[in-house]
Amino acid sequence: MTVRPRISLVLLLGAVAACGRSKSGLDGEDVPLVLPATCADDTDLPPADLVCTGLYANVDAKVTAPRVVPYAPAVPLWSDGAQKQRWINLPPGGVIDNSNPSEWVFPIGTKLWKEFSKEGRRIETRLWQKVHDNYWVDAAYVWNSDESAAALSAGGDMTLDDGSTYHVPTQDECQKCHRGRTEHILGFEQVLLGLPGATGLTLDELVQREQLSDPPPSTMFEIGDDGTGAAAPALAWLHVNCGTTCHNDNANSTGYAAGMLLRLDPTLLDGRPTDTFDQLRTTVGVTVNAPAWNGQTRIVAGAPDQSLLYQLISHRGTGMQMPPIATSIVDEDDVALVENWIAQMSPPASTASSGAQPETAVDAGM
Ligand code: HEC
Repeated sequence: MTVRPRISLVLLLGAVAACGRSKSGLDGEDVPLVLPATCADDTDLPPADLVCTGLYANVDAKVTAPRVVPYAPAVPLWSDGAQKQRWINLPPGGVIDNSNPSEWVFPIGTKLWKEFSKEGRRIETRLWQKVHDNYWVDAAYVWNSDESAAALSAGGDMTLDDGSTYHVPTQDECQKCHRGRTEHILGFEQVLLGLPGATGLTLDELVQREQLSDPPPSTMFEIGDDGTGAAAPALAWLHVNCGTTCHNDNANSTGYAAGMLLRLDPTLLDGRPTDTFDQLRTTVGVTVNAPAWNGQTRIVAGAPDQSLLYQLISHRGTGMQMPPIATSIVDEDDVALVENWIAQMSPPASTASSGAQPETAVDAGM
């Protein structure tokens, strides 16, 4: 019997790891966030002032609270070149239920923040906070010009010091993207914390801290290839910019009816070939019958300029761009990765030899 010794070795290694990184062993990890005395007790409404969310222990010195942990997803959402910082606060002893690896369920009390800066100046800080089971509040806080405070905002356009316009999303706009997951959280998730490039509280760190209900067999993911040699970066970009938000199989997601599935499944990211992934199955050679783009093909293998998906991510203008909101500048560097990926795909044999239409499946929208 070789099984027993292996089990005890695993247990032993687990115990050693747990001693080194116990949940309560981290600085301030086992006490709740302390809010300034002037703040109302937690309510079902977001506080009026950012400091009352607990992010900063000293807002003047920009020192974050000890229990607020920074992280960055392996690939960020493109935000027109803004710099972003992100933090999470899990309640003491809080464990994330990742039994569905694509739909994490967070403990009540969880807070996440994302802060946007331009040219080194803080502009706005966004919050998602889980208040009850199935109930989250979200908010955007806009910083004053000397960055001494940030106040709750309903969203809208603001003018920056250099005269440029900056758009803070409205509540409705937040929902359009964040309804893509039942628990709303889009970037603190199994794929983006497990791919190379994630920093701070990564998937591996979460497992070591025993903060995941179902530790995955591996915490280091790899997106495989489809023969183009160019699939991995393109699929990662499409995952965070299109898939986590609108184009996935959560029936609440904004683009659900289109049936285009661009969110990666973390259980498939072990380097295996990507040919059969939903991202290819629902795009390559698939025509669209949404009124605006009737008859166009999402991805024409080998031809980015004939691929609707590429056209929309490389343009801006109402009805002519993807994502449709929250961006007015093309993500040139990353769009080039998608262009290259499509260009490297072999054209279907029928078009290559005879110029006939590729075989297509018809779907309900973009
Ligand atoms: C265009 C789609 C889009 C809009 C609009 C949007 N978000 Fe997000 N948001 C994302 C994506 C995608 C991520 C994860 C990637 C990242 O962090 O770069 C994210 C991340 C966040 C995070 C970090 C936690 C997480 O979900 O990963 C917070 C907090 C947040 N958004 C709050 C808001 C709030 C509040 C609004 C409205 C004021 C808003 N967002 C509007 C797409 C959007």
